[in-house]
Amino acid sequence: MSELSVFKWWQRGVVYQVYPWSFMDSNGDGIGDLQGIRARLEYFTWLGIDAIWISPIFPSPMADFGYDISDYCNIDARFGTLADFDALLADAHRLGLKLILDYVPNHTSDRHPWFLAARSSRDDAYRDYYIWHDPAPDGGPPNNWLSEFGGSAWEWEPATGQYYYHAYLRQQPDLNYRNPRVRDALLQVLEFWLERGVDGFRIDTIHHLIKDDQFRDNPPNPDWREGMPPHRRVLRSYTTDRPEVHAAIADMRAVVDQYPDRVLIGEAWLPFDRLMAYYGSDLSGLHLPFNFQLINARWEAAVIAAIAREYEASLPPGAWPNWVLGNHDRSRIASRVGNAAARLAAVLLLTSRGTPTLYYGDELGMRDVAIAPERVRDPWEKNVPGLGLGRDPERTPMQWSPATNAGFTRGSPWLPLADDYERTNVEVEQDDPNSILSLYRALLALRRREPALAVGDYRALELGPDIYAFERRHGDARFTVVLNFARESRPVSTTGRVVLSSAVARELPSSMTPSSPLLPHEGVILSHA
Ligand code: GLC
Repeated sequence: MSELSVFKWWQRGVVYQVYPWSFMDSNGDGIGDLQGIRARLEYFTWLGIDAIWISPIFPSPMADFGYDISDYCNIDARFGTLADFDALLADAHRLGLKLILDYVPNHTSDRHPWFLAARSSRDDAYRDYYIWHDPAPDGGPPNNWLSEFGGSAWEWEPATGQYYYHAYLRQQPDLNYRNPRVRDALLQVLEFWLERGVDGFRIDTIHHLIKDDQFRDNPPNPDWREGMPPHRRVLRSYTTDRPEVHAAIADMRAVVDQYPDRVLIGEAWLPFDRLMAYYGSDLSGLHLPFNFQLINARWEAAVIAAIAREYEASLPPGAWPNWVLGNHDRSRIASRVGNAAARLAAVLLLTSRGTPTLYYGDELGMRDVAIAPERVRDPWEKNVPGLGLGRDPERTPMQWSPATNAGFTRGSPWLPLADDYERTNVEVEQDDPNSILSLYRALLALRRREPALAVGDYRALELGPDIYAFERRHGDARFTVVLNFARESRPVSTTGRVVLSSAVARELPSSMTPSSPLLPHEGVILSHA
């Protein structure tokens, strides 16, 4: 398959997100760790994954569960040591797996030595590493910028008589990326991990990196309604997606490009018309600006078809698409759309044109777990309670087996396990050909076997109401993917040999003839070879 070699691994492959707190605990402290991930690496090869992205594992006070970093170039003791990391990376590579790290250049922890120095005095050499501002004339915050996690984004520092800016928690002061010393220090972080051999980075909240240098007030959001997160009262016009961000990304890309075959993925919650700029002019930016539209979308065929149409139409020439179904910040797919539709979602994710990112446990049909008030860990839920913003429900321990604590830990897990873990787990589902895990594995195997499904061309088809259908083609191979979003059967006028169905009861191989019905929530892949 030599013509496939023009495609990079991150174009052909599938990325799996590991949330390290919850993946596998090797030492019984109730928190996942690197040795735990290492012990489970063969799960990824069994499943058919190409790359794992691990959310932050660096030293951190864990105010935001690792997204508040106090040392960019080390491993938090909860997760292990640098030696553990090297061993994990070596084993992953031996198994043919790529490893992607999280990179958080927007902010540090307030315990980072840079911030400790910066807050000590206005004259400190590190003062300018962060964003300080005098109070407004009334002594209040300098402007109306809001924290994503509730309240003003400005925190008063009495010792030095200024405010500092934090887009997230006050324990996460934003770095001043306009300062070339900050930029250089953060580029060195990339080099540190690249030298160790990592295969790429997922850049955290990249659209926040640069803020308006005139500190203009954000305009009110005309669409804000009671019940929406409070920070959405204003539009983030002057705090996100500033034009200077693209030069900053190009600098990161230039560092990454000094190493062969690495990937740069970025988190930017933006509509397609803004997101496309993150590929950079002449594709000098991110390889994969995350496409989160499926996470927000209403689960209807017409809505999903429109998203795919708009996405395909907006991609710059040569830009590679990608799709995300879930992550550690949003309700799980099985909870958003239901168990039956989650199977359809698996077909959608793994046959759409572009690199899929799969969130740990979604392949088992894991659902959001209700968290009792006394067990809440997420600072967002603590700061802004009652709106359902908390992210603990989608961060609960991976369900490995029917054993105590689902085989995740021999201690007591940091978050509760789902009630259904004795049924919904790797061990039980591996033996069940009708499980969603078996469906994921079959889809991943088919995708690997059939380049058309991974890197092939895409063409949308109109096959009737409630149906989203498209063709994938590569060389002589041609497949049709037909997805029934309705809760009822739907006749579909198409033909082909059914090579995969998401429906539990369908007998394979079978053929579709004009007007064969698709079962409720069924997705099929038809071959026309
Ligand atoms: C990103 C992360 C989220 C974190 C935030 C602040 O959105 O995905 O988990 O809280 O950035 O770092």
